[in-house]
Amino acid sequence: PDQRVALKARAAALLKAHNAVLVAHYYVDGDLQDLAWETGGIVSDSLEMARFGRDHAAQTLVVAGVRFMGESAKILSPEKRVLMPDLDATCSLDLGCPADEFAAFCDAHPDRQVVVYANTSAAVKARADWMVTSSCALDIVADLHAKGEKILWAPDRHLGRYIQEQTGADMLMWNGACIVHDEFKGLELDLLREQHPDAMILVHPESPKSVVEKAHVVGSTSALIKAVVEGTAKEYIVATDNGILHRMRQLAPGKTLIEAPTAGNAASCKSCAHCPWMAMNALQGIIDCLETGQGEIEVAEPVRGQAAGCIERMLDFVA
Ligand code: 13P
Ligand code: SF4
Repeated sequence: PDQRVALKARAAALLKAHNAVLVAHYYVDGDLQDLAWETGGIVSDSLEMARFGRDHAAQTLVVAGVRFMGESAKILSPEKRVLMPDLDATCSLDLGCPADEFAAFCDAHPDRQVVVYANTSAAVKARADWMVTSSCALDIVADLHAKGEKILWAPDRHLGRYIQEQTGADMLMWNGACIVHDEFKGLELDLLREQHPDAMILVHPESPKSVVEKAHVVGSTSALIKAVVEGTAKEYIVATDNGILHRMRQLAPGKTLIEAPTAGNAASCKSCAHCPWMAMNALQGIIDCLETGQGEIEVAEPVRGQAAGCIERMLDFVA
């Protein structure tokens, strides 16, 4: 613990010395989340991370999350320096949607509005009409559907299916998944809720249908935190990356939080719901990137400019 306190103090001093601000996701280590709050940064979902980074006056953004989050920050603010503790922190959705194959998919369906999830590379965003995150995807697709648009959706098949069911939109889908959320199991969740019949079930929409259909609340990380804070239940079963429990415990200390099962039966299951790439973010990485300048995100033109359009369109929509 003493070493962690020292590392945190060192990271805080470096953020200050470099006029940098820390923009973190709810899934990263709790020490990093606390550091972000204590130094004037933010811990949030991918939508608010993008907005906060764009609007903050600091010329250096340190993004603790996964690669697409750093890229989105750089795409929106090319004049800022964007550093990440570990550039190898990627995402299975991003990896599963190579830009060249995606471009061929788009070329084959020129009559559709191209809507991509935030969890994609800059090159994929450069082909898109819209970027969405889990907190605004439903509203944006519903709006496009109401205007008579047909949609090409990538890459998360579970989120895409959920939105299609909710909106009735005509959506052609890429077949990607998040390796963390894809592991939540509906049958085991049934057993768990038998033991906790009054628990409220909170599910991120990157989860499979068998889990989403049992949810009381389906939503982005921010929406799930809000549900715990505002909910009247005592117990909450949480189906998303367990990094989120840190913030939930801080904001709702009296509530009981139970991790949704990922495998085996409910009694024996130990959740493995933690993203290996989010876990690559550490205090030492924050220190190293600020001290050495390593881990800088670059997004070359013209891809950056092309990708900016779909992100700005989303931010204008939610404004
Ligand atoms: P949120 O946008 O709900 O934070 O989820 C993004 C995500 O999947 C991060 O891994
Ligand atoms: Fe990607 Fe899933 Fe990790 Fe989020 S939790 S970064 S969607 S692999």
